[in-house]
Amino acid sequence: MKHSSGQEPRHIAIIMDGNGRWARRRGLPRIEGHRRGIEAARQVVRAAGDTELRYLTLFAFSVENWQRPRDEVNALMDLLHHFLREERRYLLENRIRLRCIGRIEDLPERVNTQIRDIIEETSTFEGRTLVIALNYGARTEVLDAVRSYCRAVTEGEEDLDQCGWEQFSRHLYTGADIPDPDLILRTSGESRLSNFLLLQSAYSEIYFSPVLWPDFNREEFMQAIQYYKQRERRFGKTGDQVCPAVPETAQSLT
Ligand code: FPP
Repeated sequence: MKHSSGQEPRHIAIIMDGNGRWARRRGLPRIEGHRRGIEAARQVVRAAGDTELRYLTLFAFSVENWQRPRDEVNALMDLLHHFLREERRYLLENRIRLRCIGRIEDLPERVNTQIRDIIEETSTFEGRTLVIALNYGARTEVLDAVRSYCRAVTEGEEDLDQCGWEQFSRHLYTGADIPDPDLILRTSGESRLSNFLLLQSAYSEIYFSPVLWPDFNREEFMQAIQYYKQRERRFGKTGDQVCPAVPETAQSLT
């Protein structure tokens, strides 16, 4: 017997893929796909506001993306700057906190400053959090976490003998406050995680949508949430432990 949790996800993390293919199929430059991708991101941020979701993570730029043609990288930074300028007001009006994961210090100065300002301005908001993964890579994150943890040991803030997952994981970019994603969603039909939240996704459900990111919308997003709600999450236990089957006698009494 299969038991679904029926629970609403608390955190969804999205790999927004397929902008380039969307553009190519229309004979448009790749950047046009990214531009439409921004609109899809905006739509999903708003859709998330109509759900019980507390954390939405968007993978906007990976450490590997620097290898793209310089024009495309520059255009992506411009679009990001534009996206943040427009979203700032929405975040403030809706009391949504902004967090970033990744080496944002290596982004162009104007983007870096803009992000830091919005993070600061929204830092006291408690209800919902938008997390943007920028210049992010899971392997880089692990290396940065190891460095941070070792430094903390040297400074007497962490005790190596007491090192467990809780103690180490607070040195990841997601810190002690961002919970692991319940669902990882990737668009464009690719079935891989591409160096995204590899440690935090240890028990995440994974949903691969065939839709290219610029075509992704509120309906597709709600469909992914429905998929999640039908999943049975076991975290290494048996199905009966997680959700005990109701004995027939008990069923007849209800
Ligand atoms: C994948 O498309 C997407 C990216 C490289 C990230 C850029 C994402 C956006 C512009 C959308 C929203 C951005 C923000 C800032 C929230 P791809 O170029 O890898 O597509 P392809 O695999 O079809 O070439």
